[in-house]
Amino acid sequence: MTLSTGQAVDVLRAAGEPTRLRILALLSREELAVLELCRVLDQSQPRVSRHLKLLAEAGLVERFPDGAWVFYRLAAVGDARRLTDEALKVIDPADPILSRDAERLQAVRGERSTEAGEYFARNAARWDEIRSLYVSETAVEDAILQAAGPGPFKRLVDLGSGTGRMLTLLGPNAEAALGLDLSQQMLNIARSHVAEAGLERCELRHGDIFGTRLPPQSADLVVVHQVLHYLADPAAAVREAARLVAEGGRLLIVDFAPHALEFLREQHQHRRLGFSEPEMERWLSEAGLSKIRAAALPPERGEGLTVKIWVAERARQPQRSAA
Ligand SMILES: C[S@@+](CC[C@H](N)C(=O)[O-])C[C@H]1O[C@@H](n2cnc3c(N)ncnc32)[C@H](O)[C@@H]1O
Repeated sequence: MTLSTGQAVDVLRAAGEPTRLRILALLSREELAVLELCRVLDQSQPRVSRHLKLLAEAGLVERFPDGAWVFYRLAAVGDARRLTDEALKVIDPADPILSRDAERLQAVRGERSTEAGEYFARNAARWDEIRSLYVSETAVEDAILQAAGPGPFKRLVDLGSGTGRMLTLLGPNAEAALGLDLSQQMLNIARSHVAEAGLERCELRHGDIFGTRLPPQSADLVVVHQVLHYLADPAAAVREAARLVAEGGRLLIVDFAPHALEFLREQHQHRRLGFSEPEMERWLSEAGLSKIRAAALPPERGEGLTVKIWVAERARQPQRSAA
């Protein structure tokens, strides 16, 4: 599809204002909540919201409420998105205004990851107890074993491995396993759990889910269990996890369905209150995987959290004949 002259003018008008261009440049880095944009831009919420509304009406950004927060990201596809990309490309990367915004965004991100890092360091020893606060762990773990498939696996990679529960659950069926986590406290606990479980070919390393530095397509089972909702850029984490999946291999993402338990933000550092089906499907397919299944495990009673397990696969390439 292409735009009519009138539509193109509307899009250019929406983007053609200093604060709105700054917003587009920021959202090209990652999805952001309105309050985070206000802090970076140093502008009031009503002003920023007005700009965002105009950008959304012109199809340049997408708005998605998440509990009491509202997030924005660049439109995923379409002509408005192509125009945005082109406009951002021609701006000098050293432009002082955009550079200052990027620095502020870095500071906001830094605070966020310090808070989350401190939370995980503080709670590392109690993590297994906290993990089972909301849902029956046995039911979830049974479903994860099923979703992983019969194996045996050549190489299991667990991203954001925490205290190592996924490694002790799935590791016995893997020839080699690797857990990566940002928190040294979590890694220390995982090391003793893995040793207690007698998993000799299981390694634990300090690493970041956004840049694992692992070779592409090097694992036949990749797991991201209860990690995405803490992250600034869950789509980028899904991309990195998918990059590691070998042909015929699987990615298991375990997280929550959309919910409204706002206290998890303040008390447990959650950033996103769950993920919707279309959102996850889009991330998986953009990352080159096909979703093969999604299972939902609703809470046993009352208002609680539904655990979702998304299973995606990298299709095998057809063999070329040697003729
Ligand atoms: C909620 S815990 C889940 C741990 C484990 N997957 C489990 O279910 O028991 C989230 C883990 O993600 C880790 N984490 C957070 N951000 C990360 C990042 N950018 N890269 C790697 N690990 C990260 C935290 O340190 C923490 O151990």
